[in-house]
Amino acid sequence: MIIGSNLLRFDSIQSTNAKASMLIRNEDVPEGTVVYTGFQTAGKGQAGNTWESEQGKNLLLSIILYPESVSPENQFIISMTISLGISDLIDKYYPGCRIKWPNDIYLNDKKIAGILIENSISGSFIKSSVAGIGLNINQENFPSYIPNAGSLKQVTGKEFDLEVLLKELLSALDNRYKLMLYGDRENIRREYISKLYRLNEWSKYRSTGSVFKGRIINISDEGLLIIENPEGNQMKFSFKELDYLS
Ligand code: BTN
Repeated sequence: MIIGSNLLRFDSIQSTNAKASMLIRNEDVPEGTVVYTGFQTAGKGQAGNTWESEQGKNLLLSIILYPESVSPENQFIISMTISLGISDLIDKYYPGCRIKWPNDIYLNDKKIAGILIENSISGSFIKSSVAGIGLNINQENFPSYIPNAGSLKQVTGKEFDLEVLLKELLSALDNRYKLMLYGDRENIRREYISKLYRLNEWSKYRSTGSVFKGRIINISDEGLLIIENPEGNQMKFSFKELDYLS
């Protein structure tokens, strides 16, 4: 077992990602170390956003990785791997979750998990990677300013044991991570693409102020989203360049 071999628990912490990064800087932490908490006072989301989670209701964790065989150009494989690991766990309890590019996990059109991957790159290799995961499990009410948030309990109507789910999540992530290290990365890519939210569906998007119709058809090697328009032209988008419209 790599992921979950060392589990560090905190009742409350500012951010498991920040703690994991601090540990990497100051100590020799083994690969697969997990920083886990029931509450964050300054949880970090993507693009400088915050991540809020009710005390003791959800899974909040960060995993320390040293993926030396991944080159900085291919770092999106880490996102794909972690997204698939989380999907494996959710699918076990309620099949059909989708990955909203780049790495939000959606169930029934609600975001139930977010991932924040922070890589430290030195020259031509990734020195370390902190994979932060916020997975909403038992929370039933979300603030009105995050209307698309949801949890596994809301969808299934069941209360879950967080300790059991944590173990299962770490095991699912460990399996996927080993496939990334020793298996065929093309399979990971294919599986990730097949689980993409709105894959091949004609939908509306907005980029740089203009609204257009298109369908998601692929992901580039760098992890850009490729959308085809009705004329058959392909466009690539990076994160924050694109809004999904309903
Ligand atoms: C997103 O914006 O969708 C990413 C959210 C990531 C949240 C998790 S919660 C555990 C870990 N620690 C943090 O501070 N953030 C990540």
